[in-house]
Amino acid sequence: MRFISLETVDSTNAEAKRLAEQGDFGPFWIRADSQSAGRGRRGREWTSKTGNLFCSGLYPHDGNVHQLAQMSFVAALALAETLERYVPKDLISLKWPNDVLLGGQKTSGILLESGQKHHQKWMVIGIGLNLTHHPEGTEFPATHMLAHILAADLSGPEPIMTGVEAVLAILANRFDYWRHILLTKGFEPIGQAWTSRAHNLPGPVMVRLPQETFTGEALGLDANGALRVRLENGTIRDIHAGDVFFGTSQDD
Ligand code: BTN
Repeated sequence: MRFISLETVDSTNAEAKRLAEQGDFGPFWIRADSQSAGRGRRGREWTSKTGNLFCSGLYPHDGNVHQLAQMSFVAALALAETLERYVPKDLISLKWPNDVLLGGQKTSGILLESGQKHHQKWMVIGIGLNLTHHPEGTEFPATHMLAHILAADLSGPEPIMTGVEAVLAILANRFDYWRHILLTKGFEPIGQAWTSRAHNLPGPVMVRLPQETFTGEALGLDANGALRVRLENGTIRDIHAGDVFFGTSQDD
């Protein structure tokens, strides 16, 4: 795997896209110590001060739209397995569609983008992982990895906390592993692995879409990764995108 490290950049997703526009279709991972215009989902800002991981993987892809969207589940699994090297496994859970939680709090973000140049389709999987700090006052309560590393693991002869590059090396390796499974075996094993780590699933959920908000019972994933929700009147709705709040309050 090719790795590119920068001190600062506007956004690693934007930089990866610029390289794709110049004809470099990867695969590669690019990271920066800080970003001046880090971007989150739905046009939100992603606070990007030094100390956390800001990276983007650029890969060619064959244009299968379902598989493209499913890459965010691949990234969530890769993040969970990366965190598992550092923190107790029972703290880690996955929240639909692509959040990774530590002790129930948001620890990372995934921003998937795609494009085409000279008949070659490509995708950028942008990942922000809170390692040493997290923003305050966010809609979903947030945390960072260092806060969950056991004191004994930090003070041993080989302290467990490693540099950002080492975290990225593990993440890229786990991403490639699960990406290969998706491309060769389809979504089923990805959905199973994801579900086994899922947060509050099955369980009560509030779904917020651009035009409506409703509550119901989240049942699990459909064959493509949509969230199946049973409404109070018994009908089933498959949610393909939106903000979901698990449990009985927005804090969940
Ligand atoms: C989210 O809103 O949850 C997704 C956040 C994604 C942030 C990462 S940081 C690295 C990459 N570059 C960006 O500008 N965004 C993504």
